Amino acid sequence: MLRLLGLFFFFFFFFFTSSYATQAVPRAIQVQSHRASAHARRRALKPVTLPLDDYFLGTDLQWIGNISVGTPPQTMLVVFDTGSSTLELASTLCGEACSNQVQFDPTQSSTFADGNFTGVLFFDTGVGVVPVIGNNTQMTLHNATDTVSIGGLTIKSTELFLILNQTEPFFADPFSGIQGLDAKATGVFSALIDQGLPSLFSFFLTPQAGGNAELTIGGIDDTKFDGSYFIYIDTTSLLNTFTTGPLTFASLTAPGKQNFWSLISPQVFVNGQTTSLLNTTREVIFDSGTSNILFPTDVTEAIYALISPDIVPHASENGTYGIACDRIPTLPAEITIQFTAQDGSAFNLTIPSIELSVGPFEDDPETCQTLINAFDGHNLLGASVLKHYYSVWDVGGQRMGFAAV
Ligand SMILES: *[C@@H]1O[C@H](CO)[C@@H](O)[C@H](O)[C@H]1NC(C)=O
Ligand SMILES: *[C@@H]1O[C@H](CO)[C@@H](O)[C@H](O)[C@H]1NC(C)=O
Ligand SMILES: *[C@@H]1O[C@H](CO)[C@@H](O)[C@H](O)[C@H]1NC(C)=O
Ligand SMILES: *[C@@H]1O[C@H](CO)[C@@H](O)[C@H](O)[C@H]1NC(C)=O
Ligand SMILES: *[C@@H]1O[C@H](CO)[C@@H](O)[C@H](O)[C@H]1NC(C)=O
Ligand SMILES: *[C@@H]1O[C@H](CO)[C@@H](O)[C@H](O)[C@H]1NC(C)=O
Ligand SMILES: *[C@@H]1O[C@H](CO)[C@@H](O)[C@H](O)[C@H]1NC(C)=O
Ligand SMILES: *[C@@H]1O[C@H](CO)[C@@H](O)[C@H](O)[C@H]1NC(C)=O
Repeated sequence: MLRLLGLFFFFFFFFFTSSYATQAVPRAIQVQSHRASAHARRRALKPVTLPLDDYFLGTDLQWIGNISVGTPPQTMLVVFDTGSSTLELASTLCGEACSNQVQFDPTQSSTFADGNFTGVLFFDTGVGVVPVIGNNTQMTLHNATDTVSIGGLTIKSTELFLILNQTEPFFADPFSGIQGLDAKATGVFSALIDQGLPSLFSFFLTPQAGGNAELTIGGIDDTKFDGSYFIYIDTTSLLNTFTTGPLTFASLTAPGKQNFWSLISPQVFVNGQTTSLLNTTREVIFDSGTSNILFPTDVTEAIYALISPDIVPHASENGTYGIACDRIPTLPAEITIQFTAQDGSAFNLTIPSIELSVGPFEDDPETCQTLINAFDGHNLLGASVLKHYYSVWDVGGQRMGFAAV
């Protein structure tokens, strides 16, 4: 089956169903990534790098890695999700709905503490490249604390949420949970920063064919992008030496104010062209837990119009578009999203034509779904763009860095 069933998450809002209601407001943390205090330096933790697997169903969808939870540790495979904040785990308290997943068993952990509250978490984007319709993507959760280790770094008594039930789009998950990594740092990552870990993390989210995907927590793995000098022969000047592929940083849209990793984009190009609608400033959210791209309906259609008039809405799923699969290889479909670097210069993140198709529709295998779903909410960039760059997510500096790989 080539239809894609990834997972992907976007923290929408947190809503307790019991007699009280509250917002999951993350603690704001005051940490400098580059100027740690003497006290923090003394206790500083070194960065760790975790290998990630690519969840692949015809298209690269999500990158997943192991954490361990409880005492003795239970290994759980999770998606590292910059679009959400908290840690959710399939648990033995969840029946049929989690039967496909490895489940955390709280009764086998001596350090588990029940939080006694149950709530519902809604996601703004659904599973894989399938659009969310209504509230069809939600989890019923129970709060708790336990010990969590990531890459050998251990946090005692950190907040987590046991999945008690979940809607059908989550049933296919071949992994157990979601570890949120938001721009304010919450839960596990916040606790690590408090212990002296530098307040940034970096992703190398390669296509499956490349392998070696990884998450570095607390640092940057500069062996994964080309930051070195090389000789370039130019026919006019004969010899130029320059640095290629350095990281370009851009400041977050609202430093210190948002959980989202978002940047302002002044314009979008398709095959080098733009239109008045595409040449418009918009806020774009980067989500490592999202498989494809979401833009409002008018922007989605303006982009597709510059690729082919034959890319049309697909009737079976509101928000999706498609075109005959045999047309895909001949269509130039380079989508460039422009941003502004911290030095004021423009820089581009480009999605190559190879990303145009995210696979055939299940109910219509001759038609391939195209990479952008219309969604009249946020602009969201996921795997289609992130797998072409090494990315640095700097909580302390409230900025993102990109280097071509
Ligand atoms: C996660 O752990 C399991 C079991 O120890 C192992 O088979 C798997 O390769 C690990 N996956 C990653 C991405 O580290
Ligand atoms: C569970 O949630 C309630 C309500 O927000 C809170 O008072 C309690 O401390 C939480 N428990 C844990 C273990 O996080
Ligand atoms: C949850 O309930 C148990 C049993 O009533 C109690 O021992 C425990 O302290 C409660 N946990 C919290 C965080 O209130
Ligand atoms: C989703 O559920 C929430 C809480 O029950 C409700 O407020 C909201 O209107 C629902 N949204 C849709 C689109 O059904
Ligand atoms: C899980 O949720 C579904 C609806 O989403 C509901 O029909 C089912 O009864 C729930 N299961 C449990 C055990 O609560
Ligand atoms: C960004 O891409 C557009 C369209 O291809 C191009 O015109 C522009 O020069 C590029 N800008 C930079 C800074 O590379
Ligand atoms: C985009 O719009 C600005 C004015 O808002 C204009 O100066 C610029 O030339 C336009 N760029 C392109 C590529 O059309
Ligand atoms: C989905 O369907 C609703 C009506 O049910 C419509 O208003 C909306 O424009 C459609 N498209 C998207 C992307 O939501």
